[in-house]
Amino acid sequence: MRITVCLTDSKPEPWVQGLQAALPEAEVSAWAPGQQPADHAVVWAPPQAFIDAQPGLKTLFNIGAGVDALMQLSLPPGLAVVRLDDAGMSVQMAEYACHAVIRHFRELDVYEAEARAGRWTYRKPRERADFPVGILGLGVLGERVARAVAHFEFPVMGWSRTRKEIEGVRTFAGEARLGDFLVNTRVLVNLLPLTDATRGILNKATLSALKPGGYLINIARGGHLVEDDLIPLLDKGQLAGATLDVFETEPLPAAHPFWHHPKISITPHGSARTLRSESIAQIAGKIRAMARGEAVAGVVDFERGY
Ligand code: NAP
Ligand code: GLV
Repeated sequence: MRITVCLTDSKPEPWVQGLQAALPEAEVSAWAPGQQPADHAVVWAPPQAFIDAQPGLKTLFNIGAGVDALMQLSLPPGLAVVRLDDAGMSVQMAEYACHAVIRHFRELDVYEAEARAGRWTYRKPRERADFPVGILGLGVLGERVARAVAHFEFPVMGWSRTRKEIEGVRTFAGEARLGDFLVNTRVLVNLLPLTDATRGILNKATLSALKPGGYLINIARGGHLVEDDLIPLLDKGQLAGATLDVFETEPLPAAHPFWHHPKISITPHGSARTLRSESIAQIAGKIRAMARGEAVAGVVDFERGY
């Protein structure tokens, strides 16, 4: 069995070594043009030339949860795409989302500014009932985030394509219920995959539908947000602020107005990092399971796009 590794923006060598150690029976190498075709590939945003040079490929293992970059490629029929299924990401997303929700709710930025100015001041306590948190997407990451936020006793809602039942979470399903979900939400957390159905879903209309003082936490993909719509909503007070981890263009260009907007907090697409050893263990486990003819989790449905 041959496994090739093709990663845009990161070094393949540690992945090659880790996969080789986990699967000693396989021949693992970093992709180079002209290389012998492989059975499985471990990839992040590979170029079309890579796919075209791999006629016998059975599986593309994506080293992330989101497969939007792969869905832009022309993939041969019969090639399976398998995304990372948690592999240590959901706990990171739960940390990040809870931190952003609590930082906003408890006005921790205001306290920090006051402390820096040497002032000992108090803010009036706020009611968590006034800060319902809505999670767009209740998949591997969204469900964990919803449960984690509910632990802090905020009212929590979630929206997904198909109906879910999650203890402590009021759930809404399908496009017809998006409006109800939004009008009941004040702090909106986005954990949808980027697909034709979800591109641009965070826009003037949907963000204006939130409860007064709405707050956006986008930790899925930059393409979900219509970036030009955000600053006018913040400037006229329709939204109280935004925490953004993902952007239409990454790295965020130096001249982008989001960098210096006082109501926007930025992180560099790191809300849930790929953890190499957990990911290698998961991918190796799936390769072995597939060799035994067993079904594996995280196989992408091309019709849905995730
Ligand atoms: P997932 O398990 O596939 O879950 C996706 C959720 O979105 C599901 O609940 C799905 O509904 C829902 N959904 C999809 N299309 C929808 C639509 N048109 N209408 C309503 N709901 C829809 O994905 P995941 O593992 O939770 O990851 C979510 C996304 O997070 C990834 O695709 C990726 O873009 C992003 N991500 C970002 C980072 C980062 O560092 N910023 C890290 C990892 C992942 P059903 O359950 O009904 O199918
Ligand atoms: C990161 O953005 C991922 O999709 O895993």
